Amino acid sequence: MVDFEAVGRLEEIPDGGMKQVIAHGEPIGLYRVGDDVYAVHDYCTHEQTELTEGEFDPDDCEVECPLHGSRFNVVTGEVRILPATKPVATYEVKIEDGMVQVGPQRVRSGSRRD
Ligand code: FES
Repeated sequence: MVDFEAVGRLEEIPDGGMKQVIAHGEPIGLYRVGDDVYAVHDYCTHEQTELTEGEFDPDDCEVECPLHGSRFNVVTGEVRILPATKPVATYEVKIEDGMVQVGPQRVRSGSRRD
């Protein structure tokens, strides 16, 4: 079972901002919207560019890949704009005493984990 791993403090991520961390040996993008933080694998599923190098729109909770412009919902991992066709993996997040912790990969209903 994968435990939660502390990756930094909430105040290190500006509201509406993003930050790449390493958790469970993987690059993971953290996206902050108010007091909520969402975690998705940081590699675009199109050609593995780092999504945290792109643009984050906190109003739509979407990140745009810097290379070809695919957009992903950071809450669900779903693709919103092509050319990527596969969703990005999302991870459980909990915040305790201001410390952000990344947990196991979420399992998407109706699809298998890759
Ligand atoms: S690498 Fe992200 S859309 Fe092509």
